[in-house]
Amino acid sequence: MNELQEGNIVIVGSGLIGRSWAMVFASGGFRVKLYDIVQEQVSTALEDIRKQMEELKKSEMLRGALSMEDQMALISGCTDLKYALHGAQYIQECVPENLDLKRKIFSELDLYVDDSTIISSSTSCLSPTSMFTGLQHVKNCIVAHPVNPPYYVPLVELVPHPQTEMATVERTYNLMKKVGQSPVKLMKEMDGFVLNRLQYAVISEAWRLVQDGVISPRDVDLVMSEGLGMRYAFLGPLETAHLNAEGFKSYCERYGEGIKRVLATFGPVPDFEGEVAEKIDQALWEDVRDKADQLKAGREYRNTCLSHLAKLKKEMKKN
Ligand code: NAI
Repeated sequence: MNELQEGNIVIVGSGLIGRSWAMVFASGGFRVKLYDIVQEQVSTALEDIRKQMEELKKSEMLRGALSMEDQMALISGCTDLKYALHGAQYIQECVPENLDLKRKIFSELDLYVDDSTIISSSTSCLSPTSMFTGLQHVKNCIVAHPVNPPYYVPLVELVPHPQTEMATVERTYNLMKKVGQSPVKLMKEMDGFVLNRLQYAVISEAWRLVQDGVISPRDVDLVMSEGLGMRYAFLGPLETAHLNAEGFKSYCERYGEGIKRVLATFGPVPDFEGEVAEKIDQALWEDVRDKADQLKAGREYRNTCLSHLAKLKKEMKKN
């Protein structure tokens, strides 16, 4: 991760996720072109990246072995797509979550790229089929779904289109590893991919527990942050089960019946509106007069915690 790498990375869309991706790739030594249709957005993005890097340097949380100045020098902004794509080995699309817009962008990229360029989307929930079908370079297309903010949370879900070549999956996987992310490969498309399917299962049960008057919204969050989440930062649910008995099969033998009994009491899919939404919303605001301040402080706290956790996880990594 300490040397200058061959080939350019192009980020299309310099918003929240585009900026973070730019920092991730620069930390791995890649030259990054940050493209956006709005010039002002590009300038703001570069300024914001510099500020973020300065903060990271100060707190000794900057990723990669290159200096902050060297990393910053690797990132340039532009509003000319054809120019941005010159020499691109990998494109990470980060425009707003709108299928028509994404399809328009991919058909444009399809015209300019050659057979060796990977076209990847950051989409949270659009399927590869809906975005890439019909493109000339469909075999080079893939979803690389990050977790916000990708600089602190390394997971990337790689989701292929049915016509994506295995080589595209492998090259994207290796690139992600090279820049310090943690990629996982989905073997096929699935609505919500995997992270959001797991997340939605948790959110819906949290909702039902609050709805049924079992627990308060603040306490249900504590169950996760002070309980399950402590383990899950290091071990997944399957390995947690494996270690809680004499292996996974032994866990199923011991607890399977109980799990099935409890699961049978889970209610229907919540409607995510009305009284319960109101109750949870109210509980989460500390002071309704300073909503913007609370969100800003909360996000800063989250990012600081995540960066410390990332450092700890690195130190704790199994050999
Ligand atoms: P954002 O709204 O912060 O940024 C979008 C950027 O795209 C803006 O800078 C905008 O000027 C630019 N843009 C719009 N049209 C464009 C065009 N035709 N060509 C080039 N640039 C264009 O959006 P955000 O949050 O960064 O999301 C980007 C993608 O990442 C979405 O698909 C989203 O689902 C996905 N994602 C977002 C996460 C999040 O928590 N925000 C997490 C994981 C994925």
